[in-house]
Amino acid sequence: MAEWRLAALSERRVAGANPALAIQIDGLFYRSIPKDDQCLANLGRCDQAILVLAESPILGKVQPREVWPDCWLGQAELLAFQSATRTVQHKKLKQGGPFMARDHNEDISFDEYDDIHSPRPETCDFDDIVEAAISRRGMLGGVLAFGSIGLLGGTALTTPAKAATDRFAFTGIAANTADDITVPDGFSAKVLVRWGDPLTSDGPDFDHATRGTGASQAVTFGDNTDGMEVFAHGDKLLLAVNNEYTNRKITWGNREEGKYETDDDVLKGMMAHGLSVIEIAPGENGWEMVKDSPYNRRVTPNTEMEITGPAAGHDLMKTEADPDGIKSLGTWNNCGNGSTPWGTYLACEENFNGYYSSSEEVQDNKPIQPTPEFIRYGIRESDWGYGWAQIDERFDTFKHPNEPNRNGYVVELDPKDPTSTPKKRTALGRFKHENAEMVINGDGRVVVYMGDDERGEFLYRYVSDGVYAPGASTDSLMEEGTLSVAVFSEDGTGQWAELTPESTGMASKAEIAIHTRLAGSAVGATTMDRPEWVAANPSAAEVYCCLTNNKNRGVKPNAGDDETPAMGPNPRAENHYGQIVRWRPDGADHTASGFSWDLFVLAGNPTVHSDAYAGSDNVNADNMFNSPDGLKFDDNGLLWIQTDGNYSNEEDFAGHGNNQMLAADTVTGEIRRFLVGPRQCEVTGLAWTPDKKTILVGIQHPGERGDSHWPEGGDAVPRSAVIAVTRDDGGVLG
Ligand code: FEO
Ligand code: CA
Ligand code: CA
Repeated sequence: MAEWRLAALSERRVAGANPALAIQIDGLFYRSIPKDDQCLANLGRCDQAILVLAESPILGKVQPREVWPDCWLGQAELLAFQSATRTVQHKKLKQGGPFMARDHNEDISFDEYDDIHSPRPETCDFDDIVEAAISRRGMLGGVLAFGSIGLLGGTALTTPAKAATDRFAFTGIAANTADDITVPDGFSAKVLVRWGDPLTSDGPDFDHATRGTGASQAVTFGDNTDGMEVFAHGDKLLLAVNNEYTNRKITWGNREEGKYETDDDVLKGMMAHGLSVIEIAPGENGWEMVKDSPYNRRVTPNTEMEITGPAAGHDLMKTEADPDGIKSLGTWNNCGNGSTPWGTYLACEENFNGYYSSSEEVQDNKPIQPTPEFIRYGIRESDWGYGWAQIDERFDTFKHPNEPNRNGYVVELDPKDPTSTPKKRTALGRFKHENAEMVINGDGRVVVYMGDDERGEFLYRYVSDGVYAPGASTDSLMEEGTLSVAVFSEDGTGQWAELTPESTGMASKAEIAIHTRLAGSAVGATTMDRPEWVAANPSAAEVYCCLTNNKNRGVKPNAGDDETPAMGPNPRAENHYGQIVRWRPDGADHTASGFSWDLFVLAGNPTVHSDAYAGSDNVNADNMFNSPDGLKFDDNGLLWIQTDGNYSNEEDFAGHGNNQMLAADTVTGEIRRFLVGPRQCEVTGLAWTPDKKTILVGIQHPGERGDSHWPEGGDAVPRSAVIAVTRDDGGVLG
């Protein structure tokens, strides 16, 4: 039995929420990333090896104890370090096996999932990372100054609270940790629709005891609201909403273990995914869903989809059920969204991979050897605890290896035709799509900006061959065009590198559409800090993207072995706070190959840090936040920022409170907090009614770790919901 000595390397801490642990065995340090202090304190025994815990600079004297079944160490990626030189050995200790038991997946956040299941070796010396982070401090000032000069004629972002003109029309609110929605004085927030609300008047009301069934969930509003858009259709208003995923311990909270027990439990979870289209109208108590509207519709993982664009009909898209490779079933894990000027909705498939599993590993009792393509997209032997292969074998990649190739796209939906077949637009590439921000360029071509939300993945742009003409057919606009990927330079410029068979060495446009990440790597795309929503300014030729965070920045490569140095628009190593990058296309032409860029804001905590982790000058104790995610401009050019970050309100995140929504004046740089969500939620998705008097805001996964009863309070099950925020004086809001 090996003897382990706990050696918490305090010097390895860089602005992180969680201290890094190292465990020394026979001269090697094994690093894990514990979930929280409680988990740390419970470290004592892990699988077969007894940990003999020594004095530690972080923990003090720690007694050996029984480890929790869910202890993070049981899930962690363990890497070996040579203690003398700190040169990383690239030695993977465990992948699968007792440290990676399937049951341990349930508490991992989306962004952790692939990182844990596809461990990459750390490649950077830690001291170099620190030096790099520190040396960026000078550069950061330069980058911000560059943008300020370009946009403001020399007015720097240093006096946000004293802007000459106040475009906000609200007073910023304080951070808090209440289990409620907080908005400024003079504003009100009301729930419009919740997870499990029936779409028809005879539909089943949400049952807090059972949390529904497969049948009830299929005819009720889906779970975990995300991107959304309002569409005017005659005298009707239609709201299309993504229902991204489910929290297993909430969905199956009626089961003792918080896991599915029956096939119908699995079906219930599956039917909670997809899209909801509902008609909305003002009612006695504010905005309400119009039950029984003929436009009310659920799109689920079983709804038939048409595959369009370069990948349609390719061999990699063909399956037993669809030998032509042109029709697939369903969409799921739809995160952010987009919309088109021709009135359609764009739902973006993000973490589609976590639903596939393979029976091969189970049958042969040995790890499968995934293809490089499967590894890059995180398609592994086990799913993330959803169990879909149990009720539908198309989610078993051993039996149906091409099925995963049919997900990871942008899906176009016509909300005005409830019988329409949604279309998968493969020309826009296959990756973990966050949102799809469409701009009509000056020459009429359609430009779509898109982020791939995974650590070290890329930022993309699609440009159509044809031009948009109101009234003319739009089908080819997202089928025929060119996909490019962003390459940022240190000097504040950048290029869009086209993804073509010639530039990538790949066989066809179809393969580029299917294995887009590999194409991006082939042309040297810049690895980014998890690109989330992109938003284009309606009043200027400039575009913004949330880079939400990246604990791997400067630590390890992405899943394609592309390096992730701390530089350019991703300047901070072990970046736990995130930033927003903006770029301006050369000549104000969104199809130009070149652009200039700067950082609009570096999130941080100036009450804890005085270095680059304090954030940029437009971040202060009154407006600080972490992990910007949702992003959208209103018609007045105010930029709305939503967060999906660390809500511990402790240590590096002290004073940040619950997740929130802020507004930014992109001319002055000022940022104010507008809304704070309930406990453990993410604030994501926003849309305006056509009269601009209501903002609809998505509240996702309240109580994801058990500490919320929003919106009903008491001991109610927490429920994701869309809320409607209005001004008490009836004025406009954007
Ligand atoms: Fe579903 Fe990248 O957030
Ligand atoms: Ca998001
Ligand atoms: Ca996020």
